Amino acid sequence: MMETVHVDLGDRAYEVRIGGGLIARAGEEIWELLRRPRVAVITDENVAALHLATLEQGLTKAGIEMTALVLPPGESTKGWPQFTRTVEWLLEAKVERRDIVIALGGGVIGDLAGFAAAVLRRGVRFVQIPTSLLAQVDSSVGGKTGINTAQGKNLVGAFHQPSLVLADTGVLATLPARDFLAGYGEVVKYGLLGDPIFFDWLEVEGTRLAAGDRALRQKAVVRSVEMKARIVERDETEEGDRALLNLGHTFAHALEAATGYSDRLLHGEAVAIGCALAFDLSARLGLCAQELPGRVRAHLQAMGMKSSLSDIPGDLPGPERLVALMGQDKKVVDGRLRFILAHDIGRAFVADDIDPAVVTRLIADELPR
Ligand SMILES: NC(=O)c1ccc[n+]([C@@H]2O[C@H](COP(=O)([O-])OP(=O)(O)OC[C@H]3O[C@@H](n4cnc5c(N)ncnc54)[C@H](O)[C@@H]3O)[C@@H](O)[C@H]2O)c1
Ligand SMILES: [Zn+2]
Repeated sequence: MMETVHVDLGDRAYEVRIGGGLIARAGEEIWELLRRPRVAVITDENVAALHLATLEQGLTKAGIEMTALVLPPGESTKGWPQFTRTVEWLLEAKVERRDIVIALGGGVIGDLAGFAAAVLRRGVRFVQIPTSLLAQVDSSVGGKTGINTAQGKNLVGAFHQPSLVLADTGVLATLPARDFLAGYGEVVKYGLLGDPIFFDWLEVEGTRLAAGDRALRQKAVVRSVEMKARIVERDETEEGDRALLNLGHTFAHALEAATGYSDRLLHGEAVAIGCALAFDLSARLGLCAQELPGRVRAHLQAMGMKSSLSDIPGDLPGPERLVALMGQDKKVVDGRLRFILAHDIGRAFVADDIDPAVVTRLIADELPR
């Protein structure tokens, strides 16, 4: 069972193919893109141990030769040292202008390898083979690539669309439960920002989906990718609508900064909490019904996910400091804060002019004491 979502971006259009067993068939899937039967793969140690042999067999079957660079796992890989190493390795491997680079892994590998492909010889094509839920529903689609620096996350990068995305939903079976649920935070985000029927469906099917039901996982990935593709088609470089994808993210980025981008709080966990806070803020401002934040939290809790500031282990800084961290986010305009807020489930909008004092009071009320 394979489904295809088209991302229509003119001469940068590509397909996202979603289904079980795609990695084992990768050779046939990418064959049409190749000018010679040879690819360079970037991956991490965890994914390599579980899935690199399958990819190599899938390529060999189609007569494609593969060479691979295996990087250490984790967010800290997404920085200058491993980026330099990757670009130099690709040059040493004699990857040429017409060749293809493959990113096999989660969002860290996709962002790093995509950025390396964007700058290598002024840009070579790349194929995303996302293996985490977060990467399948979010980071592999849309062409944002980049790395972190000492100044902050994702501050250096490029828009570079992949030539093809192969989301093998079968490999989600080896993803640790915590990483799966973190990715699910982004899935919930799509329902909350633009599709109330999808959110209703997640409320009904979410726990079975998390427990491993393949058909439900497939459906959740397909619907998420469709939503992302439609938004990216309308606004590839985030001049407008693409900002809706940042629902929960102004809060999330501040929480990630406050917890040192560590294992204390994964990105998708921060997004889930951030979505609940965005509905809290919307309700406080009288923009949505008062019971909606409770409904969002109830679903996250039913999934066994973190849904409140009090679910974050360890101490957090005070409300003023947290709001200051929100102000350091890219999404700040003239001392007012930009949030994605909602009139209802599935009806998010960009609010550019939020008074930081209101947010400070909200955080103060939510922080555990
Ligand atoms: N480019 C974008 O549009 C975009 C969007 C959202 C997030 N991101 C970026 O994505 C990154 C987070 O992505 P992530 O959550 O995938 O993190 P990740 O790449 O670190 O993967 C999470 C963990 O799961 C492991 N893993 C991946 N697939 C596996 C599998 N099938 N089986 C077992 N283990 C597996 C990885 O080795 C890693 O330890 C962040 O850097 C974030 O900034 C980018
Ligand atoms: Zn995100």
